[in-house]
Amino acid sequence: ENIGTVVYENSTVASRAIAREIADLINVKQAQKQPCILGLATGSSPKSLYAELVRLHTEEGLSFKNVVAFNLDEYYPMEPDSVNSYVRFMKEQLFNHVDILPENYHVPDGQLSKENISNYCDAYEAKIEAVGGIDLQILGIGGNGHIGFNESGSLQNSKTRLIALDHITRVAASGDFGGLDNTPRTAITLGVKKIMEAKRVILMAWGEGKSNIIKASAEGEVTSRIPASYLQEHNNATFILDVAAASKL
Ligand code: GLP
Repeated sequence: ENIGTVVYENSTVASRAIAREIADLINVKQAQKQPCILGLATGSSPKSLYAELVRLHTEEGLSFKNVVAFNLDEYYPMEPDSVNSYVRFMKEQLFNHVDILPENYHVPDGQLSKENISNYCDAYEAKIEAVGGIDLQILGIGGNGHIGFNESGSLQNSKTRLIALDHITRVAASGDFGGLDNTPRTAITLGVKKIMEAKRVILMAWGEGKSNIIKASAEGEVTSRIPASYLQEHNNATFILDVAAASKL
């Protein structure tokens, strides 16, 4: 089973196309007087997408007033104003530059006490369900095939939860944290189940470094070793790639 893949010359052009799809969805929902529920991702890959959405807001008047956003994940523990916080990332890349209402965006809380995490995660999913589920989920992909922080071994029906980060994921993040010793060992991630329930999923990947995991995810066996491979079983998921990330397909 092969997943839908769309290849663009470079990440800038690809990000423009994704931003256009998101803008169209926001506008359709606006016309229907309905909220537009977006699942959002962090990492370097979506930065160009958020820059383009900010441009559509400032230059073309795209409004985010009807957008309700749920981010995939956050390190644990993490303070929201810390440099590596995904709350801070989202504010800097998108939320501070558009007219989304503060009560309408959600990023998992990295400051909970351990015993409250499980209830918090259930409530996070309940909030998504209360607004009718995610209309469009944006994803990056980790070098090991993780989506959000659903690491290898995450089940297709996994719930939102605290997860131990893979060594390889921590190594990849260690530059941001000034070394492995300072890199968090855990994170809170939206589970695979809620990602798979999204009505539309777009996974973006740029560069040669992602080409092997993109091939394995799109064309290899569907396996818990590579959570992104579950998307082969989604009826409306597309991998949007630049030429380099698509080079092994
Ligand atoms: C982190 C994030 C993922 C992201 C991945 C890849 O692990 N939690 O959501 O997809 O990094 O990041 P990048 O886009 O920088 O390659």
